[in-house]
Amino acid sequence: MSIVIIRQDDKIELWKEALQRAAPDISIYSYLEEHPADEITMALVWKNPKGTLSQYPNLEYIASSGAGVDFLFEDETTPKNLPITRVVDAMLASDMSEYVLAAIFSYLKRFYQYKINQTKSLWKPEQYRRIADYTVGILGLGALGTALAKDLVRFGFKTQGWSNSRKKIDKVTAFAGKDELAEFLGSSEILACLLPLTNATAGILNKELFNQLPKGAFVINAARGGHLVDVDLIEMLDSGQLSGATLDVFHQEPLSSDHPFWQHEKIHITPHYASVSDTDSVVPQIIENYRRMQHGELLTNLVSTDKGY
Ligand code: GLV
Repeated sequence: MSIVIIRQDDKIELWKEALQRAAPDISIYSYLEEHPADEITMALVWKNPKGTLSQYPNLEYIASSGAGVDFLFEDETTPKNLPITRVVDAMLASDMSEYVLAAIFSYLKRFYQYKINQTKSLWKPEQYRRIADYTVGILGLGALGTALAKDLVRFGFKTQGWSNSRKKIDKVTAFAGKDELAEFLGSSEILACLLPLTNATAGILNKELFNQLPKGAFVINAARGGHLVDVDLIEMLDSGQLSGATLDVFHQEPLSSDHPFWQHEKIHITPHYASVSDTDSVVPQIIENYRRMQHGELLTNLVSTDKGY
């Protein structure tokens, strides 16, 4: 009974040390070191290389070390019928909320425009609007969207959210299902996408959706690059239907240096850093699930394989 950590960035040792500190009794391996494949019962993964999970004949459980699990469903070699969990963590949620708030306030106070003006040594006070002037719409009211909605309410934004099934959050107007999407979009002057990426949500940020937003709306995508149709965003920005976009996630990451987004004045790019799992905050739920698995108990933060999140 051991854990293997599989990820392609430079954080394997960080995770291994944090897990080992919390649970010195468990054998924990990096997939890059020599390790007994048949002893592995749990894999802690983040964007694992395709095919890596099928090397473990006794694998019982797959844990994503982030909120997203889309990479597991996109990999047709991911073993079927094993429980998959994702991270639901207060720090991950507050980090995301702070990111979206930073983007909204930068837009509100025209910081993005001033950065452009600065490159031209241009002193030009721009008109601004206030918190109370905006309705912010959140696509996706899961753990992250709900935390953001509460923060927006706290700051005094008119706040509304859209989700598959209706959510109830104090002072947040909740829309649900396909039938209510148009009404939700029609009054979202700032739109933040925090949806999980599934077959149902891939490409949802497209021309048809953008055209239903109020003219000049601002879009923030901190979910997944696969939600956005890149050419549609550029077209909508160039036509003035959208006034700007802050993007943290892309179809291909890192974003290739010749991608047109880099040079677009109205697109503000960050390198998929809006909300990154903090090992100390997340490790307890990973260890808790390992112990539950050992005792045959129900795991926490289980993903629905039907829904894909
Ligand atoms: C980050 O993108 C995550 O899914 O945790």
